[in-house]
Amino acid sequence: MKYRELDTFPEGFLWGASTSAYQVEGAWDTDGKGPSVIDANGHTAPGISDFRVCSDHYHHVEEDVALFAQMGLKSYRFSIAWTRIIPDGDGLVNQAGVDFYHRLIDSLIAHGIEPIVTMYHFDLPAALDAKGGWENRDTVAAFERFARILFSEYGSKVTYWLTINEQNMMILVGEAIGTVKKGSPKSSLYQANHHMMLAQAKAILACHEMLPSAKIGPAPNIALTYPETCDPEDVLAADDFNSIRNWFYLDASVRGMYNSVAWRYLREIGATPNVEAGDMDVLKSATPDFIAFNYYASMTVSKPAPEGAATPDSSDQQLFAGEANVFLGVKNPHLPSTDFGWEMDPIGFRNTFRALWDRYHLPLLVTENGLGAFDKLEDGAVHDQYRINYLRDHIKQIQLAITDGVEVLGYNPWSAIDLVSTHQGVAKRYGFIFVNRGEGDMLDLARYPKDSFYWYKKVISSNGDDLN
Ligand code: BG6
Repeated sequence: MKYRELDTFPEGFLWGASTSAYQVEGAWDTDGKGPSVIDANGHTAPGISDFRVCSDHYHHVEEDVALFAQMGLKSYRFSIAWTRIIPDGDGLVNQAGVDFYHRLIDSLIAHGIEPIVTMYHFDLPAALDAKGGWENRDTVAAFERFARILFSEYGSKVTYWLTINEQNMMILVGEAIGTVKKGSPKSSLYQANHHMMLAQAKAILACHEMLPSAKIGPAPNIALTYPETCDPEDVLAADDFNSIRNWFYLDASVRGMYNSVAWRYLREIGATPNVEAGDMDVLKSATPDFIAFNYYASMTVSKPAPEGAATPDSSDQQLFAGEANVFLGVKNPHLPSTDFGWEMDPIGFRNTFRALWDRYHLPLLVTENGLGAFDKLEDGAVHDQYRINYLRDHIKQIQLAITDGVEVLGYNPWSAIDLVSTHQGVAKRYGFIFVNRGEGDMLDLARYPKDSFYWYKKVISSNGDDLN
């Protein structure tokens, strides 16, 4: 419906921006850091950057936070590299790693920026992976111990905690983002998923026990799925895929139960996990305080291709090709695409907010949203009007969602500063701040605020009133 007047953004709205440790920090083996699966798998294609230097944020942390403050950020969402804190995942604590995040958090607080901490963003310690990774139930205890160390180190300074970034993407497209080995059977993936659910629940329980005034929530990638047409079979396929991609993860995180449609799908593909006695009680007893979610665009699907027809197989976080007997990913003819083929659907953002709110009635925190593009540095400036347009269109939809009655805590687009994309190198840039480097050539790594930096500063200082 069209409103005559819109509600304003609430006071204290967390206008922020996001990064993740392995994509921004670099210093991959500095000061005692251990290797993660990302370092060990070396999954990038020839000519595409690896994650050894990234934006060298580890050595530019004060300069970067000063720039975030200049932009006016109210919050900064970043992740802690498990392998800096505990290099082998479950052994000795590395004090230098612990100190690095104290420096980062102290610097944020000194600049009046609220830290939002992701405890784990794709970078499982390689040493744990060698012991079976998430498929091994022992990783649950290792994560809980890691979580408790974080809460006791940083709990007096950090209010907002996110457990696991995009658990759903690690299960659905882990090969593309480099978190799982090629050809991992679905039964192993869904066993790993069950263990991650338990690990998350134990972290939530520990957080509530140790830090009564902190808030903690999951951080999946949620994209509402549309049917290609009003053919009831297409509608059913969209409903199935919403269950498999979105609700399966949130029903377990928030309601402590497995979504029945998704569970039946697991039976169909022979991938139901082994659930031990007491596991579901643990899931039920851990209730998050909010839902964080990453949104780039909606998805559109049709009924599955006829039996025997080839289903294309190239998938990533946004491009889902399809699955035999379940759905076929299709292009939405109403939506434009980015240079990297991801569709753009600001209204889908509002639709996604509404679906999440109706289903779970928990406050929502946006932890990613943004445009990957080929930016160009010209005379020290980057004219990224396309990014401003994308962000503006999405912020307008947040305001509409707030007017719809959805409780929104904040908006932390991807990314605060340029970093290395999950599988498409540094050429796919998202940041408000340009970092001067190429795929293989590190150049001088100098920082340049883009046009979007100055635009976002105005948006923040007007609390979302001035979007021009
Ligand atoms: C999300 C991830 O899937 O999307 C980020 O949480 C990622 O780590 C972002 O960088 C953008 O995706 P990509 O593949 O373009 O880097």
